[in-house]
Formats: sequence, structure tokens, C-alpha cells
Amino acid sequence: PLFHVEAVQGTTARLPCNLTSQIDADRVSLVIWYKEGQSTPIYSFDVRHTEMLDKGLHHEGTGSLNGRSHFNTTSLSSFIITNVKGQDNGLYRCRVDFIKSPTRNIKIQLSVIVPPDSITIFDAKGTQLPHYILGPYNEGASINITCVASG
Ligand SMILES: *[C@@H]1O[C@H](CO)[C@@H](O)[C@H](O)[C@H]1NC(C)=O
Ligand SMILES: *[C@@H]1O[C@H](CO)[C@@H](O)[C@H](O)[C@H]1NC(C)=O
Repeated sequence: PLFHVEAVQGTTARLPCNLTSQIDADRVSLVIWYKEGQSTPIYSFDVRHTEMLDKGLHHEGTGSLNGRSHFNTTSLSSFIITNVKGQDNGLYRCRVDFIKSPTRNIKIQLSVIVPPDSITIFDAKGTQLPHYILGPYNEGASINITCVASG
């Protein structure tokens, strides 16, 4: 399965990864997060030594996340990335090993929305509008403006 997640730069992204087994008497043993283009895992969650998720061992790999990530393992488990950066954009994979069930792989495409560096507005004559103020116009009037976003 492939999920799509969007996050604006500077906000928090939540990448879903279901830890519930399809078999009742089963549980998760190890979760590893990968990012496409990175050879080493970006995060691991190890529950091989315990039956309780809250006793699991969290480990963020070395890399660009740099303390900004955490795997929230409550009912709607998701990988949380805070202060999202443009470089976080990409394809993530959550690999879930269970005690009995086959390994589950979930892919999540994170699209980071980076606001433009600058916005310029021009009126119909091509004149740049200072301070983004238009008008006055009569109520109901139609106007044409051009917005140029860069960066
Ligand atoms: C997680 O997976 C289990 C087993 O496949 C399923 O029953 C459950 O609905 C899933 N939960 C979510 C939130 O997708
Ligand atoms: C706005 O531009 C459209 C398309 O060029 C044109 O048809 C329309 O008449 C213009 N409206 C005004 C108020 O200038």
C-alpha cells in the first residue's frame, strides 16, 4: 500500500504505519523506517525483548532528521517529523516484523510544501501593486490581477 501525506515546511508531518497484526494472538517485534535514497534506516523501534509497546526501544538513525522524529506507537501509530524541511520530501517505508505474521511493508510518500520566497502582484496594466493593496473597486466588479510566485 502507498499513502500520501502532505506537510507545509515548518509544521509537523504524520506518516501512518499500522502495527496491528492480522492475526489475533500476534504482536509486533521490530519496526524499521527507511527513506528512499538512504542506505541505513532512519529510525527503529525494537520490541523484541518485551510484550509492551511502551517498553520498546526507540532509536533515530544518524542523518538529516537530527532529533526531529519520533515514532508514536499508540492506536493510530505514526511516525512524527517535527519542523518539516524541504529535504524531508520523499518516499518512506515502514517495515513491520511480527512474531508470527509475515513482515508488512507500508510506503508513504511525503510531499513537503515549501512556501515561495516572494510573491509579486500585478494589476491588469502590468503595474506592480505596492503593499499588496488593491482598489478601491465597486462591489461586484471583476478585476484581473497576476500573481508571480518565485522560489
Ligand atoms: C490495521 O491493520 C489491522 C489488521 O490488518 C486492521 O484490522 C485495522 O483496521 C488497521 N487499522 C488501520 C487504522 O488501518
Ligand atoms: C480579465 O481577463 C479575461 C481573459 O483575458 C478577459 O476575458 C476579461 O475581460 C478580463 N476582465 C477584466 C475586468 O479586465
